[in-house]
Amino acid sequence: MHKKEYSMKRGRKLSYYSNAGSSISNSNNNNDNNNIGNDNTNKKQKIIENNGTVNKKDIERQVKDEQQYIQHRYGAFKNYYMFNPTEERTKFIDTEDVLNLIFQQHSGKKSNKLQCCDVGCNSGELTLELYNIFSKVDSNKKIEMYGIDMDQDLISMAKENDVNNICKFKTLNIMKENLDGKHHYDLITCFGLTMWIHINHGDKGLKDFLDKLTSKTNTLIIEPHQWKSYRKASKRLRKCKKSGTFEELNNILYRGENVFKYIDETIKNKGFKNVKFAGETKWKRKIFVYKRA
Ligand SMILES: C[S@@+](CC[C@H](N)C(=O)[O-])C[C@H]1O[C@@H](n2cnc3c(N)ncnc32)[C@H](O)[C@@H]1O
Repeated sequence: MHKKEYSMKRGRKLSYYSNAGSSISNSNNNNDNNNIGNDNTNKKQKIIENNGTVNKKDIERQVKDEQQYIQHRYGAFKNYYMFNPTEERTKFIDTEDVLNLIFQQHSGKKSNKLQCCDVGCNSGELTLELYNIFSKVDSNKKIEMYGIDMDQDLISMAKENDVNNICKFKTLNIMKENLDGKHHYDLITCFGLTMWIHINHGDKGLKDFLDKLTSKTNTLIIEPHQWKSYRKASKRLRKCKKSGTFEELNNILYRGENVFKYIDETIKNKGFKNVKFAGETKWKRKIFVYKRA
């Protein structure tokens, strides 16, 4: 086990409007073009404008419903690591084989640092664990770890969890913005995100997303969802108090077994090889390492 250099603030209760987890202004459509979370919108004011009345209980209920909806729409779960502990993934990364692949430089390139980006980092707990794993591999290498997520509240939580400021966390919607232009990362990790991109942005969105990642790295670690997760996510969204549907779901052509094939082929089409099956999590999600050939 690695010494944890950050505080684990799990299971905290979110207060209404200071940490509401969603943008009320986007509440009735499938618009995730913008970041979500505690943005400039004064959520309370927005609800009052919409309703024309001030009722604290109503406001609290609406904000709670909206929070729930956003979590189930984008996978922006505030207590994610309570039900999917970091160890479920780190145990497959903290192995000699996988670490060798990560630290193996592309085309003999020598560098004294390893720059990594964890895409869809949620509240940063897995990102921070990865930092700890990588930093014990080679004391001569400086690890630069970035975590990005579209949810501002999750990024605030990640910054709070990172008590020693060892990583850099940033709010960024990968479907709308580019990863920091000046960086070519030695490693990009993408855990538990492909379905949220696919289900909200369709086949084309998933391809654009993967193309974006592969254009920014020579090593990609990815944990795609299985098709059954799509069905479960859809059911959960319908059951939300503020019920919704994934409008793109019916248009998806690459479904069932073809989800993984589509992801695999899209990455390979960009000159990558699937070099390692790292392991399968308790949720039957497979973790793969791809390297530029
Ligand atoms: C289910 S969580 C996975 C968290 C983490 N990667 C892990 O596996 O432990 C998916 C995360 O992706 C984020 N996300 C979804 N769509 C995104 C987008 N377009 N850009 C950036 N982050 C996104 C969500 O906010 C959420 O925190």
